[in-house]
Amino acid sequence: MQLPQPPVVAKPNVGLPLWLLAEVTYRCPLQCPYCSNPLDFAAQGRELTTAQWFKVMAEAREMGAAQIGFSGGEPLVRQDLAELIREARRLGYYTNLITSGIGLTEARIAEFKEAGLDHIQISFQASDEQVNNLLAGSKKAFAQKLAMAKAVKAHGYPMVLNFVTHRHNIDRIDQIIDLCLALEADFVELATCQFYGWAERNRAGLLPTRAQLERAEGITNEYRARLKAENHPCKLIFVTPDYYEERPKACMDGWAKLFLTITPDGTALPCHGARQMPIAFPNVKEQDLRHIWYDSFGFNVYRGYDWMPEPCRSCDEKEKDYGGCRCQAFMLTGDARNADPVCAKSPHHDLILAARQEAETATQRIEDLQFRNERNSRLIAKA
Ligand code: FES
Repeated sequence: MQLPQPPVVAKPNVGLPLWLLAEVTYRCPLQCPYCSNPLDFAAQGRELTTAQWFKVMAEAREMGAAQIGFSGGEPLVRQDLAELIREARRLGYYTNLITSGIGLTEARIAEFKEAGLDHIQISFQASDEQVNNLLAGSKKAFAQKLAMAKAVKAHGYPMVLNFVTHRHNIDRIDQIIDLCLALEADFVELATCQFYGWAERNRAGLLPTRAQLERAEGITNEYRARLKAENHPCKLIFVTPDYYEERPKACMDGWAKLFLTITPDGTALPCHGARQMPIAFPNVKEQDLRHIWYDSFGFNVYRGYDWMPEPCRSCDEKEKDYGGCRCQAFMLTGDARNADPVCAKSPHHDLILAARQEAETATQRIEDLQFRNERNSRLIAKA
């Protein structure tokens, strides 16, 4: 099928929003304590309608967007999800569904397939039912995820699994990988928790120790070597948390360079973590995307290099990492212009060292974590 290719008119020195993350809802049946949604998600405005999402997708596509990720919350709670997928495909997007699998059924997978969905990623909380369900806040979550992972593959999709690892499950990395292999997964992302949103709030109870992390990476590498020797198709991706790096990541590949996030109420963000910043980000209900991407304050404020103070301003690595993550700099130092404290050159790097130290002696149990749910969110929003 020949897909429509709209004309792309770019502005010099500004990238194209190639990747559109459509956070279609903050509603979610689970309550993972490491969710990256904002703490006050329950107090956010009304969700965009189907027609409003159609407009966003069309405008972004005209500006060059090529991939769309339907995410949340749990995108499956939107009854119009198949309609959104169908329209995205009609516009020519490569379409991804990022889901917990809760709310998925054989019939819905078939419906999404028929609507043109290209890719499904299912997330798990743990390899063992009890820990998984405790973290998810649901007694049925694990069994449902297993069934849906198999069903996704049976419908001809590659099986792409995402395990968020942290101090409560990372010691079972071998069991996690064994489970993925038993499920015949094609790609497995073993992503150590990154600390945004609820994860940041629960950081002391989630950050693994260095020894835990090194052991997990070592075991993953042994599996990788074994799988390669067997010519096994499963690919294992291991993501280290920033907190054990000495240089920051080039977050989002640079501020407002490539990624565009639209939140459930239509707020446009350069990344999913930016909502917490004291910036009045624009809303697609009030402005068109072209104006938002090219002309709004929120999207221009950290573009390029002129905003950088020292040590980033004169750093010879600034074109590689852009000073790291603006959201992390804001969360940890109160000023998003600062170098990401993950960087060993940052005057705030001691905050990262202290967090690592704290991980060595932390005693929090899973039950002590603050779970992401409406009640807790409303309490936080009120405080
Ligand atoms: Fe927002 Fe890194 S998550 S810039």
